[in-house]
Amino acid sequence: MRVFLFLYLSWFSLASFAQDLVFYKEKYRPQFHFTPAIHWMNDPNGLVYHKGEYHLFYQFNPMGNRWGHMSWGHAVSKDLVHWQHLPVAIPEEKDTMIFSGTCVSDIHNTSGFAKTPGITPLVAIYTAHIENVSQTQHLAYSLDDGRTWIKYNRNPILDIGSKEFRDPQVFWYEPQKKWVMCVVLATDKKVRFYSSANLIQWQPLSDFGPAGDVNGVWECPDLFEVPVEGEPRKTKWVLMHSPAPYMQYFVGEFDGAAFKTGKATDKIFRPDYGPDYYAAITYKNLPVRSPVTSIGWVNNWNYANDIPTSPWKSAMSLPRKLSVKKINTEWVLLQQPVEAIRSLREKQLVQLKGQTISGVKRLPVSTRQCELNITIQPSDGANCGVRLAAGNGHEIEIGYNTVTQTLYIDRSKTAHRSFHANFEKLTRYETAVPLNNKTLTLSVLFDQSIVEVFANNGEAVLTAQLFPDEKDNGIEIFSHKGSSGIVSLRVWKMKSIW
Ligand code: FRU
Repeated sequence: MRVFLFLYLSWFSLASFAQDLVFYKEKYRPQFHFTPAIHWMNDPNGLVYHKGEYHLFYQFNPMGNRWGHMSWGHAVSKDLVHWQHLPVAIPEEKDTMIFSGTCVSDIHNTSGFAKTPGITPLVAIYTAHIENVSQTQHLAYSLDDGRTWIKYNRNPILDIGSKEFRDPQVFWYEPQKKWVMCVVLATDKKVRFYSSANLIQWQPLSDFGPAGDVNGVWECPDLFEVPVEGEPRKTKWVLMHSPAPYMQYFVGEFDGAAFKTGKATDKIFRPDYGPDYYAAITYKNLPVRSPVTSIGWVNNWNYANDIPTSPWKSAMSLPRKLSVKKINTEWVLLQQPVEAIRSLREKQLVQLKGQTISGVKRLPVSTRQCELNITIQPSDGANCGVRLAAGNGHEIEIGYNTVTQTLYIDRSKTAHRSFHANFEKLTRYETAVPLNNKTLTLSVLFDQSIVEVFANNGEAVLTAQLFPDEKDNGIEIFSHKGSSGIVSLRVWKMKSIW
C-alpha cells in the first residue's frame, strides 16, 4: 500500500510539474488536444458535467507507457479546452483492472450515497476486469465532486458470468424517471440495455445487434438523444459504439425499453472515417441547451502501443458537438468541434478568396499547429485538396476525388511510419461525400501529430495520426486533372492549451 501511495503521489506531482515544463514541448506532442503528462492512455471514461466542471476520466496505466494496470486517470476543465490534471481517480486493485465506464451526477440522490443535504454523489459504473476470469460491472462513488472515490462494498452490481461483458454507459431517462445502461456483450456483438431506479439494482430490457460492422469485437456503446439540424424541438436517438478497431452509429428511436432503427441497410455509418478514432462517448448531465458533446480516443489498436511518442502515449480528440440531419433518405450524424475551440485561434496566417488553382500551390506559412478552413469548387474530373506537413516529400494529403465523389486522407508518406507494420499498411482512408452546391468545405484541425478533418458542416469526419520530421511544416493546396476555384481559405495559428 505504501509503495502504491508513493508511486501515486509521485506520479501526480510529476504530472503537474510536467505540464508547465519541458514535457509538453516534445516532438509529436499535440498542443491543443488532451494528452496525459506521462504514460499510456486509451478510452475516455466517465465524461460528466458536474458543478461547473467537465470531468474527463480515461483508461490509464499509472506504471508505464504501454497498455496495462488499467485505472481511471482524471482531468477537469471549465471550458472543454484547457485541462487540469488530477490524481488517478480509481486505481487498479490487486488482480482487478478498472476498465471503461461511465459517470453520472446523481442529482436526486437515487443511490442514497449522500447522507447529508447539499451533497450530490458522482457515481461511476465501470467494468472490473480480472484477466481470463471475469468482466463484471462495478460501482464507485464520490461525495467530494470527484476528488476521492469509494468503491461500493457490495460490488459487483451486475454479473452475468461472462468474460466479455463490458463498457457500461448510463444516463437518466427523464420520460420514465429511471436510469438506463447500455453495455456490450463484446464477442456476441450485441448491446444490452438495462434499467435501474437507484444505479445499484439493474433489470435487463432488450438487446440490439449484431448489425452493421461485425468484423471486430463490439466495445464502448453509448445511446443518446440529439437534435435534428434545422428542426427545432425534433430529436432522434443515436446508438454509437466501437466495433474494433473503428466506430459505427445507428440513428433511430428509443422508447425506454428498446432501440430501433428504420429499415436496415448494408451501409455502415461511422462517426469517423479515418484510422484513428475509437471508443468515443458523450458527456452526461450537461446543462440544458448545451450541445450533445463527445470525445474519442485518437489511436488504433492495430498499432496503438507502438506509436513513437514518449513519455506519454495517445491523445483525445477535440470535443465534438453532435446533431443529426436527413440527407436524401439517410440519417447522418453531424459533428463539429465545440465552439470553445475557436478561442484558440491566435493569428490569421493566410487568407485567400476567389482564386483558381491548377497544380500545386505552396501557402506562405510554416506550421504544424493550425486550423485551416477551405471552401473549394473543383471542376469536373479534378482531384483537389490540401497537403500538410509538406515540403520534404512527407506530406499527408487530404483530397477530394470528383469522379468517385470521395474525400480521402492519405498518410502513406509521413516521415516516421516503420514503427509498426500495421501503421505502414493502414495509410489511406476514404468516404463518400457529395458536393454541396458544387463546393466542398473542409475544416482541418492540425496539431503536430494529429489531424481532424470535418467536411461539409461535419457530415463526414476523418481523424488520423501522422509522424512528421521537424522540418515538415509546409502547407500546400492542389488541384490535378482540372482546376479548382478557391472560394475561400483561411489559416489560423492555434494557441497551446498547456
Ligand atoms: C476499448 C477497450 C474497452 C475496455 C478498455 C480496456 O478500447 O478495449 O473495451 O474497457 O479498452 O482498456
